[in-house]
Amino acid sequence: MARRLDRRAFLRYAISGLGVAVAGGAIASLSGCDPHARDVGPDDAAEGLQRTGESPNLVLDMRARPDEVQILPGAKTKVWRYEARVLGGDAGSVQPLPSSYLGPLLRFRRGETVRITFTNELPEPTIIHWHGMHVPEHADGHPRLAIDPGESYTYTFRVMNRAGTYWYHPHPHGRTGPQVNAGLAGLIIVEGNEVSTTALPSGAYDVPLVIQDRAFSDDNQLMYAATMETRMLGFSGDTILVNGQPTYVLPVATRPYRLRLLNGSNARIYKLGWSDGRHLDVIATDGGLLERPVSRTTVTLAPGERVEVWVDFSQDPIGAAIILQNLSFAGGDTFPVVQANVVREEQAHAVLPEVLSDLGGYREIDAINREKPRSFTLEMSHMSWQLNGRTFDMHKVAPDEVVRLGDLEVWEFRNDSLRMAMPHPMHVHNVQFQVVGREVLPDFAAQNRGLAEGYVDEGWKDTVLLLPGERVKVLLKFESYEGLYLYHCHNLEHEDAGMMRNYRVQA
Ligand code: C2O
Ligand code: CU
Ligand code: CU
Repeated sequence: MARRLDRRAFLRYAISGLGVAVAGGAIASLSGCDPHARDVGPDDAAEGLQRTGESPNLVLDMRARPDEVQILPGAKTKVWRYEARVLGGDAGSVQPLPSSYLGPLLRFRRGETVRITFTNELPEPTIIHWHGMHVPEHADGHPRLAIDPGESYTYTFRVMNRAGTYWYHPHPHGRTGPQVNAGLAGLIIVEGNEVSTTALPSGAYDVPLVIQDRAFSDDNQLMYAATMETRMLGFSGDTILVNGQPTYVLPVATRPYRLRLLNGSNARIYKLGWSDGRHLDVIATDGGLLERPVSRTTVTLAPGERVEVWVDFSQDPIGAAIILQNLSFAGGDTFPVVQANVVREEQAHAVLPEVLSDLGGYREIDAINREKPRSFTLEMSHMSWQLNGRTFDMHKVAPDEVVRLGDLEVWEFRNDSLRMAMPHPMHVHNVQFQVVGREVLPDFAAQNRGLAEGYVDEGWKDTVLLLPGERVKVLLKFESYEGLYLYHCHNLEHEDAGMMRNYRVQA
């Protein structure tokens, strides 16, 4: 049984992730995986494309396999990693992240069709999910589609998302946390033709940064504990890795940069701020560019969320070190995340555009259930996290989890679990949504403030953080595809412990 903690201590413990005991060897096992029945498969995908008479513009071969990499000085670390290569087509590319165990950066072009054949070379079932992408049911990586060792699965989809930063990771039932922790994750950049992309830093000045925390044993192996405690709190490590590397240093020139930040951690939330107090100019969220940049002293980034930041080093002297830090909250530590070292002079007369994109948002008044939002209560019961009193069931969909194709709806998430106050980053597959309301119960306002001031609710989102006592309303539209999708908490240990449900889109 987990130790009993008072609420304040519990909360501090939970969101800072400090002091979480780690035990057991690398890649500990959870038992009791459901059998992974398959009711849609590769053939449906291929057929879909054949019916439209198209051939894909980009064909990728991907695999997940065990490997050993140098992360820390000394012994190599056993990891699981994704590899990818282009087999055909030119509507995108595959770019390895230099010296990283992370999967390669996949670049897709909006409007193009992609076919990816994924082979599982791991010793257990897995499946890839394309987080944030609007794809057909067969391509969404639902856990019932997980494939056994040695098997392959083919995804075919059209890239319909806005230009932006997305990512991919495993989604097998009950094993997402340990598989991501073992190294399985990668970034996707969708390229489009938003007006201002030309005005933003590109190429070497457009930098992807994946932030994760890990725990290492004395012999440099990843540790992961599937204990009751981590099921309750999520798993946190004491070593911060950026793009798979500890103490990440980014050499920069005296000019503006575009930083694409992903919180790829299992459970840790970050409160990001620049060491010299300069503001963060946020230009994009999960679903691409904002309408206009917003300026924040700190930005709160929960697991699964992305944020893009403009930063201008043109006023900084050569030799300066400007550090993107995690700032202390809820009793946790301040620690460096990325250190930007100004190493060379460069003139680039770029200014931050005032208008970034046409957000093309929805209006709450157009939602079919605006009078009575569909609501989902996040709570703890019988030592498990639940959504409206239910935990994950591979095939079940409750009547209040069925939506109509084409409908615009309001959903309200309520983090009302007061007995055990925990933050929950809620994620919905298949859609990008807009946050249209956020409230907090008076008791929690003060203790939440430090993180709440760093929310960026202005843009398209697929993951939204709910601190204890918060209620968030989102507008989402179910377009293009019928089928079974998921919504869940993106604290991966909560997800694995069942804080996830199906929802069905039907015509
Ligand atoms: Cu990134 Cu279902 O998750
Ligand atoms: Cu997702
Ligand atoms: Cu949760």
